Amino acid sequence: MSYKIEKIDFQFFNLLMRIFLRSLLFVVIFILLPQILFSQGPGNLTAPGNKHNLSSTQTGTTIRAVSETQICVFCHTPHRATVVPLWNRRLSTETYTMPPRTPTQLTTPLNPPDGASKLCLSCHDGTIPLGEVQNLWGSQTTISMTGSLCPGPTCFGTDLSGHHLISIEYNEQLAIDKAAQCGTITYKLRNPPPFPPLLQKTESVYPCDYNQNPNGCRDTNNPHYGVQCTSCHDPHYDPTPGTTKFLRYSSGPQGPWPWNNYDTLCLQCHEACP
Ligand code: HEC
Ligand code: HEC
Ligand code: HEC
Ligand code: HEC
Repeated sequence: MSYKIEKIDFQFFNLLMRIFLRSLLFVVIFILLPQILFSQGPGNLTAPGNKHNLSSTQTGTTIRAVSETQICVFCHTPHRATVVPLWNRRLSTETYTMPPRTPTQLTTPLNPPDGASKLCLSCHDGTIPLGEVQNLWGSQTTISMTGSLCPGPTCFGTDLSGHHLISIEYNEQLAIDKAAQCGTITYKLRNPPPFPPLLQKTESVYPCDYNQNPNGCRDTNNPHYGVQCTSCHDPHYDPTPGTTKFLRYSSGPQGPWPWNNYDTLCLQCHEACP
């Protein structure tokens, strides 16, 4: 009797095992394998909702091309680039309104800004049409778009006065001078300064004519580390669109948890006075 029960149990167990193994095989072949083969990572330009993917095929965003399906073309081109890194856009010739100088401020931002900040502003100051590129299939053209950046919260215009300083230098001397202000200020600057990419070199990463600005070239032989838009943002990578805002810190593998805490970013450079 007891033998029979065991046999039935065994057959039932066998059947369950087979169902389980087949489901497992199904999951591996039809679900996991395609995910591994075609995975794009949660924050890459090809991920749904990434707002810097202006391709007509992008989903989860409001601003994109009517029919152009390429992604990189809105910013880069293999030929006829204006400036490094193979930039496919004209740069603004605007002079900006800069933040009013504070009594404790030691740096003086370049105006117009240089470095990668100029690249961002070629869309975010709203002076150049979003779809205007230098090279698409061999000619300068304006790709037609649905939705627009301006007016809107991401359109800064030419008044940068409510924004963190950009195109400023940040080196050990600045940190020493800033620390000397303790007593008057509560936050000094970290010394030694954090390493790139959080600190973008202001000039020497790119050749000097990059600025297209006669006042923009300082001593290119010295390592001028500085703060640019790209110190805080990575234009390609946004793990949780709408929340992580392309930030280098408080977002994804480049920074620690929590993702939605901008303090983590500020404290990479600023530090409480003793
Ligand atoms: C919305 C604009 C934008 C789009 C779209 C874009 N890039 Fe970039 N890319 C930039 C900016 C700005 C920089 C300069 C970053 C810096 O100086 O820190 C850059 C830098 C680069 C660089 C050099 C440095 C690096 O980060 O590797 C490469 C390579 C690059 N991009 C490749 C691509 C490719 C490939 C695509 C399309 C899949 C693409 N980019 C789409 C804005 C963009
Ligand atoms: C080709 C044009 C273009 C360039 C160049 C560009 N952006 Fe953007 N950016 C956009 C558009 C379009 C949006 C979406 C705006 C919206 O939805 O209101 C956007 C959105 C953003 C957002 C907001 C993301 C969010 O979730 O709200 C940030 C932050 C941002 N860009 C930073 C930058 C920085 C920093 C650079 C330079 C490194 C840069 N962008 C260069 C077109 C551009
Ligand atoms: C010191 C760090 C820092 C610098 C430098 C910086 N940003 Fe930001 N940016 C942030 C943080 C933090 C946020 C998220 C908080 C917010 O939305 O204001 C943000 C938000 C944004 C947004 C989204 C605004 C919105 O309302 O959705 C845009 C667009 C943007 N930045 C573009 C830029 C551009 C362009 C530059 C250079 C001109 C720049 N940022 C320089 C830290 C910085
Ligand atoms: C990549 C480094 C870096 C990051 C990240 C950064 N800052 Fe700064 N910040 C600086 C530097 C450098 C200055 C210029 C100090 C000076 O000129 O005296 C500055 C200036 C300031 C000032 C003006 C200080 C004064 O004395 O006038 C404030 C306020 C400030 N930052 C706040 C913030 C906040 C808030 C964040 C986070 C959202 C942040 N910063 C992120 C580097 C950084």
